[in-house]
Amino acid sequence: MTSVLNTDERERLQAQNTELATLAGGLAHEIRNPLSTIRMNLELLAEDLEEEDSGRARRMLDRIGKLQNECLSLEDVLNEFLQFAKAGQLDLQECSLNDEVDAFLAFLSRQAEEQGVELRPHLDANLPQVKIDRALIRQVLSNLARNALQAMSEGGTLEFLTMARDNGIVLQVIDTGEGMDQKTVSKMFQAFFSTRSGGSGLGLPTVRRIIEAHGGTIACESEPGRGTRFTILLPTTVAP
Ligand SMILES: Nc1ncnc2c1ncn2[C@@H]1O[C@H](COP(=O)(O)OP(=O)(O)O)[C@@H](O)[C@H]1O
Ligand SMILES: [Mg+2]
Repeated sequence: MTSVLNTDERERLQAQNTELATLAGGLAHEIRNPLSTIRMNLELLAEDLEEEDSGRARRMLDRIGKLQNECLSLEDVLNEFLQFAKAGQLDLQECSLNDEVDAFLAFLSRQAEEQGVELRPHLDANLPQVKIDRALIRQVLSNLARNALQAMSEGGTLEFLTMARDNGIVLQVIDTGEGMDQKTVSKMFQAFFSTRSGGSGLGLPTVRRIIEAHGGTIACESEPGRGTRFTILLPTTVAP
């Protein structure tokens, strides 16, 4: 169901959204710094204890290791959260999406190879230029590729396809991984929804926020056991 908002209401909601994002981002920063101090001090404690050879020292090292892992996963969540909060603020530049995909694939190639995943670009040579925030679009590619690689632990293929459309361009990211059932598909864009242990559940909400901030749309088709296809439509002219 869609509701129609008038301009005043929309502007008020947007202002509220920006304020909340700023507050949330500020809070995440406040937590991140002391957290890294805690982790660094745990590391120093561990170094001291490693010099001692006793059952007590080993038990303490074990506990310190657990605390370090908790700190690391909290830092991951905070970093993803900060990216989510930043996703609505665009720094637009006219550029070629194909070049962005090419650069990203060069970066991804080693990890894909190690995981037995073949990367397949199908980039439309006649793709028009688009106005995008390059760092944020890179974030989109990275979040989608990361999910795809996690879904292909036994290897597979990961395709990146671009196509020109009447008033926009299409980007598809297609994997041959484990796929998702309908219930997962219906929840995957909800913040903090994750089926993975240690998953933040912020990867896809961030992707959607970035695409929508560009005036675009994102859709997904998925089949358990066969794979997943994300289709992104970006307009060639961005509304002011
Ligand atoms: N390419 C994919 N293949 C299979 N499942 C996926 C894929 N992308 C996302 N998902 C599902 O959507 C959920 C949410 O993804 P995301 O927002 O990136 O959070 P996270 O990766 O931290 O779990 C994942 O936990 C997973 O269940
Ligand atoms: Mg993810």
